[in-house]
Amino acid sequence: MSRKKVSIIGAGNVGSSLAAYLAQKNICDIVLLDIVEGVPIGKGLDLLQAGPILNYSISVKGSNDYKDISGSEIVVVTAGLARKPGMSREDLIIKNAEIISQVTENIVKYAPDSMIVMVANPLDIMTFHAYKKSGFPTNRVFGQAGVLDSIRFRTFVALELGVSVQDVQAMVLGGHGDSMVPLPRYTTVSGIPLSELLPPEKIKGLSERTRNGGTEIVAYLKTGSAFYAPAAATLEMVESVLLDIKRILPVSACVTGEYGLKDLYIGVPVQLGAGGVEKIVELKLLPEEKEALHNSAKIYKDMLKVLGY
Ligand code: NAI
Ligand code: 2OP
Repeated sequence: MSRKKVSIIGAGNVGSSLAAYLAQKNICDIVLLDIVEGVPIGKGLDLLQAGPILNYSISVKGSNDYKDISGSEIVVVTAGLARKPGMSREDLIIKNAEIISQVTENIVKYAPDSMIVMVANPLDIMTFHAYKKSGFPTNRVFGQAGVLDSIRFRTFVALELGVSVQDVQAMVLGGHGDSMVPLPRYTTVSGIPLSELLPPEKIKGLSERTRNGGTEIVAYLKTGSAFYAPAAATLEMVESVLLDIKRILPVSACVTGEYGLKDLYIGVPVQLGAGGVEKIVELKLLPEEKEALHNSAKIYKDMLKVLGY
């Protein structure tokens, strides 16, 4: 039986970090594709040569040719421009939509049965755009953002309490931007509600830092945005699909009435397995939580108009 295949479009910071993490799992062949001539091929070869020490024996192939993505179970899209300081995710919309159109056309042509995992920003808009351009069913097109936002929240909670990050669970819903909705009520430390461990003003501060998590890193890097944690977050989603783990993770998914929302992609808890988005999980939200989610959805619905949707 041949091994499963995951292709990563965009061999920049997020794409190549994801390829490096995924290779170490030794669970699928990997194609790393970029528009820049030669670079993905060099990175692919470099990653392959790390295999003898990191104990993987899968194929890692860099490419400039979309033919190489054929037969992929999953295509992760990290092609796009990253945010620069002073630039919002939303500023990227027009330029990245052009790139996503081109990438999606090639996915449809060469990997028509694949699932698309979008990473490019503005995330919820690019995921919707890829869904529309591909004509794929909604279970096969979804985006990574909520896992990243949740692991940031988990990290900040663990730092604050001095506990292991492994014991902190968190949920962040909504769009991947300033309107995201961290849910402290669904955040626990080994099952202990966060509200029993920290006063409300501290929790508010950690939620705020989470909302600002991407910008905080852009301000330090100056010439790009975060990539290690984004790649790790994407890895978790890819693994859940490829190995049919059925994790419940916050994912940008197409809502069709869940949470009173429809006709857009937005971060909601999703069961991710071999069928892609197998179901959207509806949490019981308090009125103020639901209102925050609806406010976030409205921002992204308005933003879709920029692309004529
Ligand atoms: P990067 O600039 O390091 O890499 C982007 C790569 O895409 C470059 O290698 C570039 O050559 C390639 N590319 C551009 N146009 C292409 C095309 N038409 N076809 C194929 N490849 C093309 O950027 P980085 O840091 O890897 O970020 C990539 C994207 O992911 C950005 O849009 C960024 O905002 C987004 N991002 C999203 C996150 C999320 O949580 N959803 C987290 C981090 C980044
Ligand atoms: C982040 O949150 C840029 O979306 C990216 O770091």
